[in-house]
Amino acid sequence: MMEHWTPASWRSKPAKHLPTDYADQAALAKVEQTLRGMPPLVFAGEARRLKSLLGDVADGRAFLLQGGDCAESFKEFHADNIRDTFRLILQMAVVLTFAGGKPVVKVGRMAGQFAKPRSAPIETQGDVTLPSYRGDIINGMEFTAEARTPDPQRLLQAYGQSAATLNLLRAFAGGGYADLHNIHRWNLGFVAGSPQGARYEELSDKISESLAFMEAIGVTPESHPSLHQVDFFTSHEGLLLGVEEAMTRVDSTSGEWYDTSAHLLWIGERTRELDGAHVEFFRGIRNPIGVKCGPSMEGDDVLRLMDALNPKNESGRLTLYGRFGYDKIEDRLPRLLRATKASGRSVVWAIDPMHGNTLTAANGYKTRPFDRILAEVKSFVEICKAEGVHPGGVHLEMTGQNVTECLGGARALAEGDLADRYHTHCDPRLNGEQALELAFLVAEKLKEDRTPVRRQAAST
Ligand code: TRP
Ligand code: MN
Repeated sequence: MMEHWTPASWRSKPAKHLPTDYADQAALAKVEQTLRGMPPLVFAGEARRLKSLLGDVADGRAFLLQGGDCAESFKEFHADNIRDTFRLILQMAVVLTFAGGKPVVKVGRMAGQFAKPRSAPIETQGDVTLPSYRGDIINGMEFTAEARTPDPQRLLQAYGQSAATLNLLRAFAGGGYADLHNIHRWNLGFVAGSPQGARYEELSDKISESLAFMEAIGVTPESHPSLHQVDFFTSHEGLLLGVEEAMTRVDSTSGEWYDTSAHLLWIGERTRELDGAHVEFFRGIRNPIGVKCGPSMEGDDVLRLMDALNPKNESGRLTLYGRFGYDKIEDRLPRLLRATKASGRSVVWAIDPMHGNTLTAANGYKTRPFDRILAEVKSFVEICKAEGVHPGGVHLEMTGQNVTECLGGARALAEGDLADRYHTHCDPRLNGEQALELAFLVAEKLKEDRTPVRRQAAST
């Protein structure tokens, strides 16, 4: 029998990667108490809507596009950055919807993606050793004792930044910016001048023509609001359980618990132990949730996680993100797909082609070769096809900014270029051009296995 769940029941389980070195625990508790009184960032009804759309993905009728910063930061917080990542997601969604002939569920790794699990709790530079940087919600990146000391006030700053980010995202999604008639306007900045930008321009011309045709026959934004707006959802790794607990509230319409810090939360590869604190917390919230699956995951592990996290087999509840590495996926993924398929239970299978493909360049920069990212996505689609499983989506670390963090792509970014605009607070992200290129390549793959879709309610 499962023990009774409460938002705080995770506290009696072993928890990995939670900062324990706050000097003033009372100050931390006080901040968590303040967060308990803050308004929810998202509503339960929205989380249920995302869950139902992910149910469509699980059934092969839609595709998940999830992306954003590895770690959001206080320093890079700016309306332009939010807009640029948002419009990049729109551009990619256009490309994928057009090619796949299926709706694309749009989820940002935004408005709350602050906390990072780290492989080492300390970092040494020369003869100085300090606590590792754990994300702006905990401490600062600068290598000084002061910055690296965890500060509970950062939790409130992260909440405020998430609220402001989400506010802008809601305005973009519903206020006209995402209207398909603006399709050409999303192709601005450095992406527009690239080969991918030109390719996007061609596609937008086709779509604009179709829109004009449809309008002539009476299909207008007034008659079809879905032309004018998108559903846009937020997500982050639910690592800092104290914060997640504080944001978890009873939904007045259903009487169930929802974590109102984001629509979707996932458990990272490093915190997915069955008897650990993270699985305990996640099993009780009703949001759609995800789990990252690395190379050590076996079929039995997946099934036990499904038992714990989705015992009622609810459609859209659970998304599994493979993150193996381009050279391991062929060995690791098939057994997992077979296990979930044989169980007959509903799950979304998606690919995170970023985290298994990280390496350190000769000049010391942490980077990811674009061709390996691409190779893992391609293998994912092919393996899914061979196993009779829907390749449900992609989870990417990316930014609309013109950064130089991942090697390769159409402009063949080289190791010597990394220093130019390397801004990430944690892992290397695809820049706008690389992300759009990836969308085109995924689109080609999806087109190959395009099957007629039965008609269904369009996403708005
Ligand atoms: N609402 C639809 C959807 O989200 C159509 C749509 C409107 C759209 N604006 C968009 C699709 C921007 C992709 C990108 O699918
Ligand atoms: Mn990362």
